[in-house]
Amino acid sequence: MTTSSTAESATLDNLSVEGRSFPPPAAVADHADPGIYDRAAADPEGFWAEQARALSWGRDFGAVVDWSDRPHARWFVGGGLNVAVNCVDRHVEAGHGDRVAIFWEGEPGDSEQITYADLQGRVAQAAHALTSLGVSAGDRVAIYLPMIPQAVVAMLACARLGAAHSVVFAGFSAEALRSRIGDAAAKVVITADGQYRRGQAVNLKDAVDEAVQADGSPVEKVLVVRRTGGDVTWNEQRDVWWHELVDSQPTEHEAEIFDAEQPLFILYTSGTTGKPKGILHTSGGYVTQAAYTHRVVFDLKPESDVYWCTADIGWVTGHSYIVYGPLANGASQVIYEGTPNTPDESRHWQIIDKYKVSIYYTAPTLIRTFMKWGADIPARFDLSSLRVLGSVGEPINPEAWMWYRVNIGRERCPIVDTWWQTETGAIMISPLPGVTHTKPGSAMTPIPGISAKIVNDEGRPVGHGQGGYLVIDKPWPSMLRTIYGDDERFRDTYWSRFADQGYYFAGDGAKYDDDGAIWLLGRVDDVMNVSGHRISTTEVESALVSHEAVAEAAVVGAADDMTGQGIVAFVILRGGAVDDGDALVQQLRNHVAKEIGPIAKPKRILVVPELPKTRSGKIMRRLLRDIAENRATGDATTLQDPTVLNLISQGLGGNK
Ligand code: WTA
Repeated sequence: MTTSSTAESATLDNLSVEGRSFPPPAAVADHADPGIYDRAAADPEGFWAEQARALSWGRDFGAVVDWSDRPHARWFVGGGLNVAVNCVDRHVEAGHGDRVAIFWEGEPGDSEQITYADLQGRVAQAAHALTSLGVSAGDRVAIYLPMIPQAVVAMLACARLGAAHSVVFAGFSAEALRSRIGDAAAKVVITADGQYRRGQAVNLKDAVDEAVQADGSPVEKVLVVRRTGGDVTWNEQRDVWWHELVDSQPTEHEAEIFDAEQPLFILYTSGTTGKPKGILHTSGGYVTQAAYTHRVVFDLKPESDVYWCTADIGWVTGHSYIVYGPLANGASQVIYEGTPNTPDESRHWQIIDKYKVSIYYTAPTLIRTFMKWGADIPARFDLSSLRVLGSVGEPINPEAWMWYRVNIGRERCPIVDTWWQTETGAIMISPLPGVTHTKPGSAMTPIPGISAKIVNDEGRPVGHGQGGYLVIDKPWPSMLRTIYGDDERFRDTYWSRFADQGYYFAGDGAKYDDDGAIWLLGRVDDVMNVSGHRISTTEVESALVSHEAVAEAAVVGAADDMTGQGIVAFVILRGGAVDDGDALVQQLRNHVAKEIGPIAKPKRILVVPELPKTRSGKIMRRLLRDIAENRATGDATTLQDPTVLNLISQGLGGNK
């Protein structure tokens, strides 16, 4: 195991004291279906076919799964559907057109309620508009938008046309946007003039202008939503206002049926090299699992629940649990544009109270932030509408889990800690709120229909009380189909580690406790998890060495109470570069923000004379992590030059 030793020992410490277990509350257990586990295990394909049939198919499927060309699976073979029709039109046809699909809450306090009938008209208009801009089935469209209704409408309009969207988080830099647009060869970008962030209107379109201006950019048109009304530069040939083009289109649109394996979206995520991976998801299997998990993991009652997932659509959680899962299920949901402390730290509790939110899905890093702000803040609000709480993105520490249970769930609401990844497309390991006895800090067991194992270095399953690597040993409907444009990397990254067994390698360490419940222990590769966001060490290193003052850089994720991991960078300056202390460090941090985005800014940058390397020249990040976490450095016998560590520590002096 190469798991960070502190992350592991911290979790193991928790395990040794963590004897608590909470039964499902009667209010949820009442109508639960405990037999679902056995049914799924007895006939997994029949089970998935049943889940798929909850969608509306324009053409029925034959085989449930074709795994003959592994690691490439095809699900619901020969079936045809339109994903947007499934997420919108069919609810209107079923008589739910008046049901609110989206309670949208803008950061400055503006709000909007969009029914399923409204959404149907808006998606139709956007689909016509995209067609007029030359988008057709099989194309790629980049979406770089804040959390406004047009973001959801734009994604669904692409789906309706059979074009794949590539949503790029609006916090990413122009450079990050440019490389993603280039990799996917997107012909249209949908963006906004600006976005509200912490009470300020900030420009967004400048980044798009910068990203698309280079020679050879595949982008033909930029569709711009007016959100803040701020000044923007305008290119008459290329730029089109959303309100001018979209709002005048017909509100009816005939939908085509696409194959179950029609690409639905590409979403970039960090891997172990500097180049982000374009994770490709397709239609039938993805939506089947997104909808099924959203229904069973949150015990969804679409007629009465108000659901709220606090993620951004720039991440997979926003794709599966704001757009496709909830809308395929005909749910009513809150979408909030802004930050949790604008105008003050009670914003989330105000929103829950205002819309009577019953299901709340958020990330451990935010829960720890709420803890820091103080339990007295949520205590002032009526949170009695809540009935199920969810967590996603990183291991949740038992303290945060208990705080969430007591202060937000008021000891009534079950907590579902959901493990999954951009690559898995939908939830894989999680309690079921009406069935599972939960333990604070454990994601518990694979959901019905999913098979996962923890294995040792040789790929053999480990026993209760033991740890190893998390693998998925059977194909699942919402699995990634490939890495866009790089199938070899797809095979290498996920399928080569346990090629003999044919297991999918998730990249996470995990452990079974004595009851066989699964505890996630963090990444075992060079991917950091900062506030639930995946950032590759290599990507930050490349950004640092692209600065003129830096000769070499090594980046590690060090344990951080608030963000899970914090980015710590060790840099060697170029000859001639002056280490003027804070000013240089500040410059380097800003440089990383410009290259990747503010979320990748190192928390600490340490200027060092040397880096610890093995004889083959590989940086020993493990030793740097020891230094960054203020502990005695571990086994350094494979270092090319053992005196390097002394040099580094001496140089850091009190700075350590
Ligand atoms: C981590 C986010 C522990 C894990 C949906 C995984 C978790 C990576 C959990 C995927 C959880 C996500 N417990 N760890 N409940 N959920 N992770 O692709 O390391 O942004 O591999 O998908 O986040 O991050 P991604």
